[in-house]
Amino acid sequence: MILVTAALLSLTPAVDDVSYAKDVHPILAENCFKCHGPKKQKGGVRLDMKAGLFEGDEGFIPVVPGDPDGSLLLEVCELPEDDPDLMPEGGPRLSEQALGTLRAWIEQGASWEAVMTEDEAEQRLVLPGLTAEQEAARAQALERVGAAGAIVLPVARDLHALDANLSLLRAAAGDDALAAMAGLEPSLVWLNLSGTAVTDAGLASLAGFKELRRLNLSRTAVTAAGLTHLAAMGQLEVLNLYGSKVGDDAVAAIAALKGLKRIYLWESAFSEEGFTALAKACPELGIDRGLAPVVEATPPVAGAVNETCPVSGSAVDGTIVTVYESQPIAFCCKDCKAKFEADPAAYAGNLPGARPAAVNTKCPVSGGDVDASVTSIFEDQAVAFCCAKCKAAFDAEPAKFADKLPKAKAAAVNTKCPVSGGDVDAGVTSTFEGQAVAFCCAKCKAAFDAEPAKFASRLKG
Ligand code: HEC
Repeated sequence: MILVTAALLSLTPAVDDVSYAKDVHPILAENCFKCHGPKKQKGGVRLDMKAGLFEGDEGFIPVVPGDPDGSLLLEVCELPEDDPDLMPEGGPRLSEQALGTLRAWIEQGASWEAVMTEDEAEQRLVLPGLTAEQEAARAQALERVGAAGAIVLPVARDLHALDANLSLLRAAAGDDALAAMAGLEPSLVWLNLSGTAVTDAGLASLAGFKELRRLNLSRTAVTAAGLTHLAAMGQLEVLNLYGSKVGDDAVAAIAALKGLKRIYLWESAFSEEGFTALAKACPELGIDRGLAPVVEATPPVAGAVNETCPVSGSAVDGTIVTVYESQPIAFCCKDCKAKFEADPAAYAGNLPGARPAAVNTKCPVSGGDVDASVTSIFEDQAVAFCCAKCKAAFDAEPAKFADKLPKAKAAAVNTKCPVSGGDVDAGVTSTFEGQAVAFCCAKCKAAFDAEPAKFASRLKG
């Protein structure tokens, strides 16, 4: 009984604050932009820009904030699998989870923000190379902060840029933890200190972190005095002060942050007058007062990618985490963590956004064996490569290498039918959470399609 409930819960779309950048943009980018983006606008529809999403003829507006049932985008994605007007055209239908996210986003008012393309974002994170001395200092710092329980991860393959998250440590992380980061100055681009015990004085340790792009000081005791230590951070773009003590006297310190694009001040100490003064001092700055959902303010479990344990399906305890494929994964208990670490491949499919299995085992560029963690999406299928160089060569000119790929459709994640338990027929499949699921017969497929939650827990292995 408990297990069934857990499986259902894990499939319930997250309905708390849906963020365009974090939740919605990735769905549209993966499924829609190739026909409704910069290169093509099928049916005259363009979904990668604000105007295209929110404008249109009466009754044909893709997104009507607050009105999911009046939004054409959702209507065409919720059509039955066999409807010729179903989007994405040619299928497969979006997962129930993705549809739930889109619906919740529209219900919550469909807040929108500009999102950098992946190329742009990655370009911004190519930092100057490190000297041998810097490498050594960085390695020592990583050891110190790792031992203290902070999660520090590379933000992208082949880049030395780092993302540090101390929010898991809550009050256990204070000014000492900031001092321990000395040595990460040339690499640290994102820093999450939400809910930690850092103080104004402690922020002095960050003064030399000139590569920081995003800093989260939400729910800390930081005030205007602390912000003066950030003055040299010319790259800082996003500053989250949600629930902090920062108030009207911080206008000058914020205005001094010349690169700042967005600031979160929901439940800070700012008054109406303060907001007015800030808007006047920084006319280009996106000021979020909390009228719309606050991005990144309350991560589900402070940075972990999952809210349900990939082993048991129960809700996770945010303090029990491991790192898998450069991402923090949380568990419900230590036993599950140990099981996962012993055989991550067996459970990775239960993680949100799990990568679909690649269609190939040989690199289409070099012909060598692939590394399953280096992939691109090509014609809706995951393609794996032997190394990042080959991926880059493929991404630049996929047509040149496409005929080296097997023609078959994505391999199913299972060999036993999740409904009957019998051997599967590889020709009878559905797509569930971005992965191909095979069945023994069309009847079982129909049963699964009608109620995937009921059978999803049987999809291991
Ligand atoms: C392979 C190309 C392709 C993909 C991928 C695709 N579409 Fe479309 N879309 C089309 C075409 C073609 C039309 C025009 C259909 C027509 O006019 O009958 C269209 C039309 C639409 C329309 C307008 C429908 C109408 O009745 O006017 C919407 C809204 C839409 N698509 C949304 C989406 C969304 C959302 C996604 C991603 C989940 C998506 N599309 C993915 C090809 C695509």
